Amino acid sequence: MKILLLTHSFNSLSQRIFVELRQLGHQVSVEFDINDRVSIEAVELFRPDLIVAPFLKRAIPQEIWANRICLVVHPGIRGDRGPSALDWAILNRERHWGVTVIQANGEMDAGDIWASVEFPMREATKASLYRNEVTEGAVTAVLSAVARLQQGGFTPEPLDYEKHNVRGLQRPLVRQVDRAIDWQRDDSQTVLRKIRSGDGSPGVADRLFGRDCFLYDAHPGPALTGRPGEVIARSGPAVCRATVDGSILIGHLRDKLGEHPFKLPATRVLASETAHLPELEGYPEISYREQNGVGYLHFNFYNGAMSSAQCGRLCQAFIKARQRDTKVIVLMGGQDFWSNGLHLNIIEAAESAADESWFNINAINDLAREIINTQSHITVSALSGNAGAGGVFLARAADLVWVRSGVILNPHYKDMGNLYGSEYWTYLLPKRVGEERAVRITQGRLPMGGMEASGLGLVNACFERTVEAFVAALEKRAEALADDRALAGMLSAKAARRVEHEREKPLAHYREEELARMQRNFYGFDPSYHVARYNFVYKVPKSRTPITLANHRDLRKAPGRVRGEGS
Ligand code: COA
Repeated sequence: MKILLLTHSFNSLSQRIFVELRQLGHQVSVEFDINDRVSIEAVELFRPDLIVAPFLKRAIPQEIWANRICLVVHPGIRGDRGPSALDWAILNRERHWGVTVIQANGEMDAGDIWASVEFPMREATKASLYRNEVTEGAVTAVLSAVARLQQGGFTPEPLDYEKHNVRGLQRPLVRQVDRAIDWQRDDSQTVLRKIRSGDGSPGVADRLFGRDCFLYDAHPGPALTGRPGEVIARSGPAVCRATVDGSILIGHLRDKLGEHPFKLPATRVLASETAHLPELEGYPEISYREQNGVGYLHFNFYNGAMSSAQCGRLCQAFIKARQRDTKVIVLMGGQDFWSNGLHLNIIEAAESAADESWFNINAINDLAREIINTQSHITVSALSGNAGAGGVFLARAADLVWVRSGVILNPHYKDMGNLYGSEYWTYLLPKRVGEERAVRITQGRLPMGGMEASGLGLVNACFERTVEAFVAALEKRAEALADDRALAGMLSAKAARRVEHEREKPLAHYREEELARMQRNFYGFDPSYHVARYNFVYKVPKSRTPITLANHRDLRKAPGRVRGEGS
């Protein structure tokens, strides 16, 4: 079928649905829902059989839904309506939640139901639930709705609150007062829940040292006492605030009137105010565990962004893991993201963005080099969450890359102002996938699913759909590898390969060449990278859909169309 994805932005859910529909052989094109005129024009140009709206912030114009079937993904159970579905589900401590695919009509979220999926709730942020349970549920629901439409004969179910399987309600937008923290009364669990309900956005508005800040990235803190709400300690990037029954850690803040009004580590925002406070353990960032000859290195960096300092700490942790008497090291990343490369927010907030970009890429490269040069262990990158840009190539530095089947990779840098990229990708990629595919992967500028990445050789294996099943299966594989008699042979073959590659062209030369290009991106006359990074960090809305996604606007793909039409 010809399917148009009409979406507010090409977020992780839209990317996943795009990948899944294309994998099934559908012809998919994308249009950002910028205004009615643009959306109507997209429909006229593409003439889709079906419109799927994975992530919308406005109603679909009548001119579209009255003439074509439009299926809207709503992150709520049957009958749930309104713009804050998941926020309310967290605030109301729902035990089960769901995703419903609704046919657009004149009333928001009240159309006929094509499919619906439920899942148990997890104690996690709204963004994490969205990237995991909601995304998996949405894929199942959208694919079954599309199959029902293709097969014909299916009648979608009108919304009827009398039915026993319709548990949802219409709810308003969550306002800041609905999640405001009452530090004198709310216990730690309540504070955590309120912050998680607004994390990634919009955050919970609060005041810290007289500043209006939004709070994100909350975790249970140690059993300390203090005046409720008071900042009593620091833990890595987080500040520790006392509650009525203990404490919580807050990892990230947005100081909305500050010099840098975007998300930053809390101790960066409150550097001077918290400098005198004691430093505690507890913020869950880098951790290491061992099991049956395998070392598992977790790095749960918020949003997958890796600053110079974080790369340095991770590199030290990796070197330490390598000194252990294990056979295999698995680089686990975090649950939601494995890595998204350079920490663009930290770079944006630096005195010299060019210098900080330079330090950051060198710090990632140092880590990549350690992974590539590891001779004592077989290294595995295990991606249960997505990876983007340099994060994908950093993963490829390991001997093996295993991904969860729902993972989305964005193995390209160009969207960040034509960044050339480093992480030794010019060495790693052609060696793994060949020159021709390397060009295709990096120039494609499209998200890629695990199956496609596996077919191209970018990853070695793709298995299991849920995070729990993936972790259980990867542990089994890694432990079997550690126990494999062939391991010694694998290690010596790998060492010989490295020596041969080094003779062919030293690793340092790849790095020099990549960094020469990156230096131009950071310090050269063309400011594209700095502009793109600013737009990304400040979340400047896109004014048009990139031609790589909006196939219906690509004149090269529409030979019959007259140049200029629809532009
Ligand atoms: N640095 C800082 N923050 C980052 C980041 C990075 N490299 N990559 C993602 N984020 C943040 C986003 O700003 C967003 O923040 P929010 O919590 O305030 O909403 C959050 O992570 C999720 O990212 P989002 O873009 O909404 O996720 P997505 O799944 O829709 O898209 C990517 C994933 C990787 C395509 C997209 O995040 C991206 O392009 N990131 C930049 C990658 C990059 O160019 N890195 C630098 C070169 S190595």
